[in-house]
Amino acid sequence: HNHIDFATPEMIRDAINTGDTEVHIPDYQGFESYREDGGYSTFATLRDGGDWEAVQQTVLDAGVRGLGGAGFPSGKKWGFVRANEGPRYLAVNADEGEPGTFKDRALMETAPHLMLEGMLIAAWAVEAERCFIYMRDEYPASLEILRREIAALEDAGLIAPGYVDLRRGAGAYICGEESAMLESIEGKRGIPRHRPPYVAQVGLWGRPTLVHNVETLAWITRVLREGPEVLTSVERNGRKGLRSYSVSGRVAAPGVYLLPAGSTIADIIEAAGGMAEGHVFKAYQPGGPSSGLLPASMDDIPMDFDMLQEHGSFIGSGAVVVLSDRGSARAAALNMMRFFEDESCGQCTPCRVGCEKAVKLMQADAWDRDLLGDLCTVMADASICGLGQAAQNPIKLVLKHFPDEV
Ligand code: NAI
Ligand code: SF4
Repeated sequence: HNHIDFATPEMIRDAINTGDTEVHIPDYQGFESYREDGGYSTFATLRDGGDWEAVQQTVLDAGVRGLGGAGFPSGKKWGFVRANEGPRYLAVNADEGEPGTFKDRALMETAPHLMLEGMLIAAWAVEAERCFIYMRDEYPASLEILRREIAALEDAGLIAPGYVDLRRGAGAYICGEESAMLESIEGKRGIPRHRPPYVAQVGLWGRPTLVHNVETLAWITRVLREGPEVLTSVERNGRKGLRSYSVSGRVAAPGVYLLPAGSTIADIIEAAGGMAEGHVFKAYQPGGPSSGLLPASMDDIPMDFDMLQEHGSFIGSGAVVVLSDRGSARAAALNMMRFFEDESCGQCTPCRVGCEKAVKLMQADAWDRDLLGDLCTVMADASICGLGQAAQNPIKLVLKHFPDEV
């Protein structure tokens, strides 16, 4: 875990030039093929005289929720943004930085127009003057695909040149936090803003801004084309809808799995071909490092946005990482905390100093339960954004479920 204080231009060049500079573009559905399948007919119909409130109702009826991780009802967001006077903007959060999350990448590298059409529909619904896509720079294929397909939309006359502005991130996890992302789009250092006001009220350049995740927009397209039933007809453990889970770790077949909302980790492991050979299920990260770790004994809890809360965890963006008996919960939690220490934007003390102190305390032979408990409370109560507030979850959950290891 080496820190470099000041990188020289040579060091940066060496770090970037790993030898293979070619971008490998996978097979994906391009504009012509998507249009032949009926793509953009929903958008064209709405643009030429649709009723945005009826569309909003359909999105609400279908139960479309923000799939960046927070699960906020998408239709409700449209109402918040529209309640504020224009000009308004739309920003797509494609800065998928949560360790273990790769579902948005899978979508952009197979069916990018599901997201792009959803973006145009949402932009129409809130009368957005321009759209910005904030693209994770570590996804060079997605970036190239979007460049090509946005150009195809311009060539086809579906959007005016420049209406969609594709922006590259620069590798900072915190720029996936929506207000830090907007700061970065504005050309500033990406640090989170205080809320309220929400970005729906004061967003890009002070204007009301609709922010949606990539997968959320794809579902908006599907719901409007196929009807709300595409989500409402799927039910499991009392929950309706579908979610993409990015499944990695010690499973036989890591990948992105589309499963019913309310699936349990047992269902998810089964979908991923079971445990990898020779591995016994021990623990799981339900939704990114800030969701901490739960033990294998809790394999029957339905995993939806609000169903893990009572256990001090959450599903977030569905970044499921499976640990086996060969892994260490203690080492995993320390790794998560090191990640937060690196990625903290440094704006507020409880997070900047708290993550650093937590890493030190977690390296001790025996964890100081009281001291770590105090630190967790300060970080959760006094940090500005979700990174610092949730960074303490791995500590709390390891102390609770894996006390023998610490
Ligand atoms: P949040 O619940 O505070 O907000 C969710 C969305 O609803 C935001 O767009 C917010 O502006 C909007 N909103 C909430 N209340 C509102 C109100 N009263 N008026 C207007 N708008 C309102 O959650 P946040 O902090 O945006 O996201 C946290 C989640 O992000 C976590 O669950 C985590 O899993 C996830 N995450 C995902 C990553 C990824 O790579 N996909 C990376 C890091 C975190
Ligand atoms: Fe930055 Fe951490 Fe404070 Fe968030 S909680 S604003 S990441 S220092």
